[in-house]
Amino acid sequence: MPLWRSRSNKTAFLRKVPLFDGLSSKQLERVARLADQVEVSVGKRLATIGEVGRELFVIVDGEAVVTTRKGRTVKLGRGDFFGEMSLIDGAPRSATVESETPMQLLVIGQREFWQLLADVPPIARKIMTTLSGRLRDADAAFSPSP
Ligand code: CMP
Repeated sequence: MPLWRSRSNKTAFLRKVPLFDGLSSKQLERVARLADQVEVSVGKRLATIGEVGRELFVIVDGEAVVTTRKGRTVKLGRGDFFGEMSLIDGAPRSATVESETPMQLLVIGQREFWQLLADVPPIARKIMTTLSGRLRDADAAFSPSP
């Protein structure tokens, strides 16, 4: 069942997603136009390590687990996003991501992703902040404590 029936409902709904905090109504309209909403059941493979990836996923509701190349697992939940790495550098998926619960997701294709970053700079900033946090965590997970 669709989560929204009109564009104004859709933007009201997007307001609740932390990645879009602080965006103007016009910027939210832009996101609404570029993102699709998808619902998946538990155990659905959303990204596969080593495969080509052409979408960014934003978690509106539910939980996913990321399994990295080294076998480390990272849980993601409401407001988190994944799939940005392959869109940014064009390399294959760096990890496998599966739904751990039924999920509601926003899906943004590659072309729409770059449009969004150009048109809505606060989203680009948030994605960079998250990427830098993930790099620090990954490094900390495999480095001896100082
Ligand atoms: P991508 O490489 O496109 O596809 C797999 C995704 O898993 C990746 O983008 C990130 O969004 C996510 N991911 C990879 N490694 C980590 C990590 N260490 N912590 C959190 N998310 C990760």
